[in-house]
Amino acid sequence: MRIIATMDYKEMSGKAAAIIADLIKSKPDCVLGLATGSSPEGTYKDLVQRYQAGELDFSAVRSVNLDEYVGLAPDHDQSYAYFMHHHLFDHVNINVENTHLPDGLNLDAAAETARYDAVVRGMNGVDLQLLGLGPNGHIGFNEPDDCFSYGTRCVDLTETTIQANSRFFASADDVPRQAYSMGIYDIMMSKHILLVVSGKNKAQAVKDCFFGPIKPLAPGSILQLHPNCTVVADADALSLVSHLL
Ligand code: F6R
Repeated sequence: MRIIATMDYKEMSGKAAAIIADLIKSKPDCVLGLATGSSPEGTYKDLVQRYQAGELDFSAVRSVNLDEYVGLAPDHDQSYAYFMHHHLFDHVNINVENTHLPDGLNLDAAAETARYDAVVRGMNGVDLQLLGLGPNGHIGFNEPDDCFSYGTRCVDLTETTIQANSRFFASADDVPRQAYSMGIYDIMMSKHILLVVSGKNKAQAVKDCFFGPIKPLAPGSILQLHPNCTVVADADALSLVSHLL
């Protein structure tokens, strides 16, 4: 695991975007695994600026997203489909037919998780998986558990995650209770993992996941075993481990 220490969110976002931009330039038909949430927002903004400056061409890029809330339509402003359009897809020349997310409106969980597994595995390998880290150490919506997950599944969100994500909704009651999430096995199969993490509220999760024992109660800790994992973290996120770097 390579940890890149940055000063703040802006520098973190710029470094992560530079890594993704290099991949798109060297492999124009690359498969990107994408994440949502506040952590990658700045990374997407930087990528959009590079596209507008003529540096990047997304026309052959394909993408698979990590997760989607169960019950939210793609045009719901808190759905992850909406997020991706708002922050990236609508601003670059990606072919939307080459972008994939779980379908939050398919309430048949067995059918939807099987469909999405086939989509992800049909890509023949994700070149780079972008991740954020939950305050409880989750990656995707793979919450702390007694085992590491395998394929796409329907997850019951923990109270910590509902509270953390309630900042985007009118109230905690409006946060969906379930999400479809890519499993940890599929995340680990990605050729390169790029995790961005920022803020003091993530410092304990950074310590537990990247400087502690590998265990399913700290889901992100499995990334210590990935042969090509880059963590780009800001000073606040590293505040409990800076003496170890
Ligand atoms: C989002 C996702 C989540 C977030 C995590 C951190 O697609 O899979 O694991 O990355 O909850 O969220 P933020 O970045 O909003 O703090």
